[in-house]
Amino acid sequence: MQHLQLKNTRALVTGASSGIGEAIARVFAAQGSSVIVNYLSDQEAAERLIREIRDNGGRGEAVQADISTAEGCASLFAAAEHHFGGVDILVANAGIQRDAAFTELSLEDWNKVIGVNLTGHFLCAQEAVRRFRRQGLDPAKSPALGKIIFTSSVHQAIPWAGRANYATAKGGIKMLMESMAQELSSEKIRVNAIAPGAIKTAINRDDWEDREAKNELLALIPYGRVGEPSDIAKAAVWLASDESDYVVGTTLFVDGGMTLYPSFREGG
Ligand code: BGC
Repeated sequence: MQHLQLKNTRALVTGASSGIGEAIARVFAAQGSSVIVNYLSDQEAAERLIREIRDNGGRGEAVQADISTAEGCASLFAAAEHHFGGVDILVANAGIQRDAAFTELSLEDWNKVIGVNLTGHFLCAQEAVRRFRRQGLDPAKSPALGKIIFTSSVHQAIPWAGRANYATAKGGIKMLMESMAQELSSEKIRVNAIAPGAIKTAINRDDWEDREAKNELLALIPYGRVGEPSDIAKAAVWLASDESDYVVGTTLFVDGGMTLYPSFREGG
């Protein structure tokens, strides 16, 4: 990977104490970005990551906030202002699953997943756009006023039985991202999303740790391996950098081909 693609940038990554968010924060810092590592409850993990970032010569701050609330998002941006003087890149990444068969899905678990995976992203993105406008464009620094990357999922396109709340939130992210991109691109705000497939994180540990479950999962992935968080982080660096300056309103699927309907290889 080319070095320091994010030199002199300031990034805020939500849900960065584990999984994909953690990998994004780590790689962003290695590429020269000053990073706000947001966490909800795992302070120890967030601080461990910050120590690692600093040991490697990078800049980072761990900041607790519940991104599903307007106050939580506002406090994160205030922290970014305080530590780094602003934000150039938002990675709206925090996500959860609360799976249940459709008729067993409680209103609480519906609201919880929509609240974190969709409303929380909306709130943080709104905050980001306001900050970008206040900061103003600095063409010597970047052709963009700011960049927003949403972590979506292959389930913005693939329906998912037993996870109607999750798939609905991710489908919502797609239209949120595209509507924002349509509305804000003329201001030089670049809004895009990454749709990860099956990536080895805690959220789906049961699907890749056990050998039999893993074989079932691999049947859904033409490329023949489960993804690593770094696969997503590397794509996020490119989307956040000016190398992708003409990429606007796009979802980049990073899924080993999961969205290619692999069951149709022999069927149909
Ligand atoms: C989910 C994972 C799942 C993957 C592929 C992700 O969005 O969070 O649990 O393994 O999609 O189905």
